[in-house]
Amino acid sequence: MARTVRFHQTGGPEVLRLEDLEVGEPGPGEVRIRVDAIGLNRAEALFRSGRYIEPVRSLPARLGNEAAGVVEAVGAGAAGLAAGQAVSVVPNFSHNDYGVYGERAIVPACALLPRPDGVDAVSGAAVWMAHLTAYGAMVELGGVRAGDVVVVTAASSGVGLAAIRTARRIGATPVAVTRTRGKRARLLDEGAAEVVVSDEEDVVRRLAEITGGRGAEFVFDAVAGPGVVELARATAPGGTVFLWGAQSGRPTPYPGFDLGMPALNLRTYTMLEVTRDPQRMRRAAAFIGSGLRAGSLRPVVDRLFPLEQIVPAHRHMESGRQFGKIVVTVDH
Ligand SMILES: NC(=O)c1ccc[n+]([C@@H]2O[C@H](COP(=O)([O-])OP(=O)(O)OC[C@H]3O[C@@H](n4cnc5c(N)ncnc54)[C@H](OP(=O)(O)O)[C@@H]3O)[C@@H](O)[C@H]2O)c1
Repeated sequence: MARTVRFHQTGGPEVLRLEDLEVGEPGPGEVRIRVDAIGLNRAEALFRSGRYIEPVRSLPARLGNEAAGVVEAVGAGAAGLAAGQAVSVVPNFSHNDYGVYGERAIVPACALLPRPDGVDAVSGAAVWMAHLTAYGAMVELGGVRAGDVVVVTAASSGVGLAAIRTARRIGATPVAVTRTRGKRARLLDEGAAEVVVSDEEDVVRRLAEITGGRGAEFVFDAVAGPGVVELARATAPGGTVFLWGAQSGRPTPYPGFDLGMPALNLRTYTMLEVTRDPQRMRRAAAFIGSGLRAGSLRPVVDRLFPLEQIVPAHRHMESGRQFGKIVVTVDH
């Protein structure tokens, strides 16, 4: 038996319950892990509340797709994995099929990465999702190059901070956008070349000043909604806007026609474009692994909660007050 988080109805954080459940043995292509730390992601709050891009197929439902732990049992065909190995779970599966919020979990073997020496469970649960998302957008798909200006909205989120570091690592200039003035100094400390406070400043004018009127070559936007019009105005001709989140919760217009049909690339993106492609994953793991060793990439952990505090942990995630990744730890 293992204490496992489930919800029996969609709703607010309070629907999450810790229950004793039989975990069972891994099937073909699966692995059972002892979970030591869990990285929280906004998608889980959306799934829990029934507002994710993928609906909840059946209840009660499990939750969670990023964690670090140790392999306990290996199913048939899960090559290259052995009991006792320290691993991280990266999101490449549906929330409807697997969930890692618990003391033990069964996950697909293809969602595991070996945890390098020196990467503890908390870091191992906090580093991958954020950096894979940023790497995939900028390096694999967005074609960001040294000297480009990269605008990062919701910059204080786990992914936003990873995007700042990733941009630095490839020689680009990261410009952070936050709603919250109180986060400005820390964003500069984390590597942002400039910070734009969107609740107080004219985003288009500030980005024009910062880029010398050229516009940003790449915009990495987690907010979407009406703000994409301003971001499109602040994008260089031929530049690209990647929409990777919809924090505003409002409809997102396509601004190209109203802006006179500029050479504007605007598209939605999820990190599954990386984690479900073995070759992209191989390159991503090499890029992030070498960045961790060199110290140019690292997770920023906002706050730790024990598993028993999963409801307050979700409340904290929804408050928007976090700076970096929220991690839940599991005592065995
Ligand atoms: N496409 C993908 O592969 C992918 C991967 C991971 C996450 N996501 C999505 O990306 C978004 C961020 O996820 P996360 O886990 O990194 O977030 P997070 O750590 O929970 O951080 C969210 C940040 O977004 C900003 N924010 C919150 N509500 C906002 C609003 N209404 N308008 C503007 N900004 C708002 C806040 O930053 P400020 O106070 O600094 O503004 C907040 O700190 C979510 O929508 C999530 O579903 C997508």
